[in-house]
Amino acid sequence: MMHIAVLPGDGIGKEVTAQALRVLKAVVGKEATFTEAPIGGEGVKAAGVPLPPETFELAKKADAILFGAAGLPGDELGPRHLRAGSALLTLRRELKLFANFRPAILYPELAGASSLKPELVEGLDLMVLRELNGDIYYGAPRGISTNEAGVREGVNTMRYTEPEIERIAHVGFKAARGRRKKLCSVDKANVLETMVLWRETVTRIGRQYPDVELRHLFVDAASMELVRAPKQFDLILAPNMFGDILSDAAAMLTGSIGMLPSASIGDGSKGLYEPVHGSAPDIAGKDAANPLAAILSAAMLLRHSFGRSEDAGRIERAVRAVLAAGYRTADIIQPGQEKIGTAAMGSAVLVALR
Ligand code: IPM
Ligand code: MG
Repeated sequence: MMHIAVLPGDGIGKEVTAQALRVLKAVVGKEATFTEAPIGGEGVKAAGVPLPPETFELAKKADAILFGAAGLPGDELGPRHLRAGSALLTLRRELKLFANFRPAILYPELAGASSLKPELVEGLDLMVLRELNGDIYYGAPRGISTNEAGVREGVNTMRYTEPEIERIAHVGFKAARGRRKKLCSVDKANVLETMVLWRETVTRIGRQYPDVELRHLFVDAASMELVRAPKQFDLILAPNMFGDILSDAAAMLTGSIGMLPSASIGDGSKGLYEPVHGSAPDIAGKDAANPLAAILSAAMLLRHSFGRSEDAGRIERAVRAVLAAGYRTADIIQPGQEKIGTAAMGSAVLVALR
């Protein structure tokens, strides 16, 4: 039996997770248990905190976690422990899910939906591997305080230990071996000591993988190259914060962030799978969200946590088939095409599965 925790969360997270769940149940229904629990703003509503203890326990025990989105508009100005997104940060860190894979694939049918010229993105297939347990996201000291001069100041700390960099570098080089054997490591070693350590460590680990071509870019140059000539990249290895930023940019190259799944994994087979797009409160509850990123996240779940590549491939082929058949949600629509809603898109994938 596969035990899957389902954490739909906030905004469109609920709607897209419902569609991903329909697809998962159609593929492995009888071989899996699905247990749902509130998280994010829904956790605050249900139990007063973004990550209720029952939800945390469920996530710890599960073999895999299907996650929707956590985030409420404006809550970044409230206390940190009540912020919806903090639940996700706690899960990533406590479950030691330190490697975050964010593939950016351009489906041929969507070339026109990209904001870049079609010839720049046609055939695009890159992977952002984002370190997920360190960096300025978790570094101490942090906080807002009043200094000796009576002036308020904010502090965050960019911090990485050598072993933290080593383990993500190994994951990166191994993943590169399964792809086009090209790894581009991103840092800001021209300014930040933490990033000097990053570069030195990635370079050293890279010697164990002589068959993988290693290159380094500063993050500003990387962001420029990503929009100038994205096809030069295969696997981009980035520290937590730079990976957060670059993966949104990479996502948009493909036409819609609504298409992109992600997997957060650690040393074992357990993983957390979520669409990259977040809660999108502006379109929540309107049956307007694109569920394909969530559905593709379910495919990643089957592949990474359960070794079910065939089932994962079936789902991915079904997604390609519905795109080829012209089904479009609002985010990927082109003039002259017919728009369908979240649930109808889920139904189309179900039909294509059969
Ligand atoms: C992401 C999101 C999160 C992050 C937020 C919601 C905390 O932007 O997964 O990319 O910054 O990691
Ligand atoms: Mg982000």
